[in-house]
Amino acid sequence: MKTPPFLALSITAAIALSSGAAFAESDGETLFNKKCGTCHSLEQGVHKVGPSLAGIIGRRAGGTNFANYKALQGASFTWNLENINEWIADPKKFIGKPTAMTVKVKKDDERAAIIAYITGKDN
Ligand code: HEC
Repeated sequence: MKTPPFLALSITAAIALSSGAAFAESDGETLFNKKCGTCHSLEQGVHKVGPSLAGIIGRRAGGTNFANYKALQGASFTWNLENINEWIADPKKFIGKPTAMTVKVKKDDERAAIIAYITGKDN
């Protein structure tokens, strides 16, 4: 039986998606090193230009002993998969005030890969 074109397409898409997920972690690592690593470490208590991101999901924003919080100083929310996604898409827009975190990751798949990498490190 010949596969109907729409089915063939969705199978291709499914394969592309699942292999995308398989690659996401290593992509995430590369992207993290390129776009975040200069300012952030994933090691507990190791702060650079920005605070350590160890255990970031479930952690209170601005909640480490990092000395240079600005926009996140005194914040009263907790990081989860959704708000971290918004934050790295556009930190200033998300928080509504100036921040030293100036990087914007515009592509959805890049943000997803970075977040998968960061949270994979948490477990
Ligand atoms: C130019 C340096 C710089 C880069 C690059 C950078 N950040 Fe940040 N980041 C900061 C600073 C500074 C803060 C603190 C912001 C504030 O309080 O205004 C911060 C805060 C954060 C926080 C909140 C931490 C907390 O303790 O609440 C997260 C999450 C975060 N960054 C993720 C990322 C990710 C993911 C990337 C890469 C896409 C990234 N950052 C790239 C400097 C940077």
